Amino acid sequence: MTDSRLAIVVLAAGQGTRMKSQTPKVLHGLAGIPLIGHVLSTARALDPAHLITVVRHDRDRVAAAVLECDGACTIVDQDEIPGTGRAAEVALDALPHDFDGDVLVVSGDVPLLDAATLSELLTEHRARGAAATLLSAVLDDGTGYGRVVRDAEGGLDRIVEQKDASEAEQAITEINSGTYVFHAPSLRAKLALVSTDNAQQEKYLTDVVGLLRGDGMPVAALPVREGWLVAGVNDRVQLADAALRLNQLIVRGWQLAGVTVVDPASTWIDRTVTLDEDVELRPGTQLHGATTIARGAIVGPDTTLTDCEVGQGARVSRTDATLAVIGERASIGPFAYLRPGTIVGEDGKVGTFVETKNSTLGRGAKVPHLSYVGDTTVGDGTNIGAGTITANYDGVNKHRTEVGAHARTGSHNVFVAPVRIGDGAYTGAGTVVRKDVPAGALAVNVAPQRNVERWVAANRPGTAAAEAAAAANEGSEGTA
Ligand code: UD1
Ligand code: CA
Repeated sequence: MTDSRLAIVVLAAGQGTRMKSQTPKVLHGLAGIPLIGHVLSTARALDPAHLITVVRHDRDRVAAAVLECDGACTIVDQDEIPGTGRAAEVALDALPHDFDGDVLVVSGDVPLLDAATLSELLTEHRARGAAATLLSAVLDDGTGYGRVVRDAEGGLDRIVEQKDASEAEQAITEINSGTYVFHAPSLRAKLALVSTDNAQQEKYLTDVVGLLRGDGMPVAALPVREGWLVAGVNDRVQLADAALRLNQLIVRGWQLAGVTVVDPASTWIDRTVTLDEDVELRPGTQLHGATTIARGAIVGPDTTLTDCEVGQGARVSRTDATLAVIGERASIGPFAYLRPGTIVGEDGKVGTFVETKNSTLGRGAKVPHLSYVGDTTVGDGTNIGAGTITANYDGVNKHRTEVGAHARTGSHNVFVAPVRIGDGAYTGAGTVVRKDVPAGALAVNVAPQRNVERWVAANRPGTAAAEAAAAANEGSEGTA
């Protein structure tokens, strides 16, 4: 049920300088979705009456990504005054002016925080009737974070930023996670008083804590169970750390749901992937995007699937596939490359060193070895010979190849599209198929073989080949 007294503000206006990137920090990917996508879905899980994301840096890109993740989110633009405090202030201006509930502020760059922890924070804040409650964490080393300064009684006194902290304050290991709940009217009143008089010349949201405390308002800092929950992503080292931690959680979740993961450390699964019970993932498997894998399928080793659908009992080994549909019990690889639009039928096969693109293979159809199959339809039960190439591109346009059902095409064929090979047709080895082959016909167009006797002796005298041929011919002549 919607929490009518809750507004959530996601801060995402900052530049993210430490990423050193053309891509805004909150749009960097983590388990297949942008950092901010994780934050938005966690925020949405609390069902707030208002969900606001504050943007500024690369505004249009960030706003578009936010709306793609959560179409109901309100986008608010921060002005030229920098700092998290200013970001919160412009968000407050977008709320109804009589809103006197709680404002939960989260950072777009803290992706691992879960809804349960946020709920606990909110519950605790409400139970205490606090003006501000923040989530803190005790880390081995708090470098980079704002530090939680406590008074002699252990109560929260204020937050000091890394760049403004004295040496003694820098030694504090309890850090501000950047996640807070504020009583809306108190936040509004105190933000109006926050200045930019600090090392970064920014309006710090963290200053509100000290101001409330100075007025004798109840404020508290609650340490999280585990520090990684509130780990911020400011550079690419922290991005990889967060990705590793999240992947461990995702893999473990699937293991507990009945998926065999032979080597969790080398298995990467996006948050958007769906797996059935009794799927087996072998080492070196990466599953991305909207990939789904059905019961009993074995994927890996060394396989990357992006937006693929794998049917029950299929086997996919040492394969790279994107936007492919793999039928039940089909066999893919080792060393297959399935490009977008590949559909492999039930019991079908795409074998070793085969590349496919925009092609449909029927039920039980097989392309077992060393082939390129593009813009092609292959009927049920057909076998495509080893080393076959569909010449689908005439240099200007792409054309289709159609092979009917139960055809048997020879090794080392070229199908020059557009061309059609009928049901039950055969082609000889080495055939270049340039015109349609009727159903049931055999197509051959290789010139008859001509053997020029003793050519090596006459043209390559004194070579190892000539000697070997001479010895063979003597032997055969001796016995003749
Ligand atoms: C902030 C906190 C720090 C805390 C840390 C936790 C302040 C002043 N400091 O520092 O105490 O330990 O988070 O991760 O709040 N943002 C805006 N507008 C701005 C500036 C930033 O929306 O003008 C957004 C950023 O996009 C980001 C978030 O606020 O999502 C935090 O900004 P960042 O610059 O990363 O703050 P930190 O230095 O990490
Ligand atoms: Ca940060």
